[in-house]
Amino acid sequence: MSTAQPGMLYGVGVGPGDPELLTLKAVRLIRNADRVAYLANGEGRSQAREIARLALAEAKAGQQEIPVVMPMSRDRTLANKVYDEVAIQIAQCLRQGEKVVFLCEGDPLFFGSFAYLLERLQDSYSCHVVPGISSVNAAAATLAQPLTLLKESFAVVTGRHTDEQLRQTLQQHDSVVIMKAGEARPRILAALDAAGRRDDARYLEYIGRDNQQVEAEVAQLPAEKGPYFSLFVVTRHQRGDSG
Ligand SMILES: C[S@@+](CC[C@H](N)C(=O)[O-])C[C@H]1O[C@@H](n2cnc3c(N)ncnc32)[C@H](O)[C@@H]1O
Repeated sequence: MSTAQPGMLYGVGVGPGDPELLTLKAVRLIRNADRVAYLANGEGRSQAREIARLALAEAKAGQQEIPVVMPMSRDRTLANKVYDEVAIQIAQCLRQGEKVVFLCEGDPLFFGSFAYLLERLQDSYSCHVVPGISSVNAAAATLAQPLTLLKESFAVVTGRHTDEQLRQTLQQHDSVVIMKAGEARPRILAALDAAGRRDDARYLEYIGRDNQQVEAEVAQLPAEKGPYFSLFVVTRHQRGDSG
């Protein structure tokens, strides 16, 4: 007969980049976890691990890490295989009563891949999600500019939407955040022009990291691909406007 206590999986948001933008709960759970898992690239680099480095530096003795190497491909078959394998690995840890933290860049459930682990594990194991500061909130804070006020409407789209979807969203909503702007930057700039919203837009990349860039004059941006960690914030009221 097994005497093991049931384990717990925590999806922990670590915020967009600034290692001080983790919640107290996130830091406590990371320090006390038996295992800490995170997505990593082919070279083993992980944005989420990098952001959580201060908490990990104070990890309890014996803590082990599970880097999950994710192929850089739009092919969901490959990604699904990785999620299947890591779900099996995490399930084994949970059956042994371990506390497993999965580090999530930004917020775990806002365009977060933690959703793919949750759907594989939450029916059979105890799972808990700790919200994190998303790149959207960090962008507004960096700009010191409200995202929405009063009756303004707010929409989030991504560079994966079609040109027409981008243009329509920009025309229909007062405030729009365009995520996953990297590869789509030339199309997004064209959509901003088509919707007459170029002057309402601000561009940010690597928010909260040492290489953070903010471009308030979107007309200055070259119409070429940018980094994956980039987004546009489009609002009707710019910093300094009183109207
Ligand atoms: C898979 S989504 C993850 C979003 C994340 N869960 C969040 O809450 O912000 C990745 C996209 O989020 C945006 N993003 C995340 N972190 C960012 C950062 N530090 N600077 C700029 N954009 C960021 C970019 O648009 C990027 O393509």
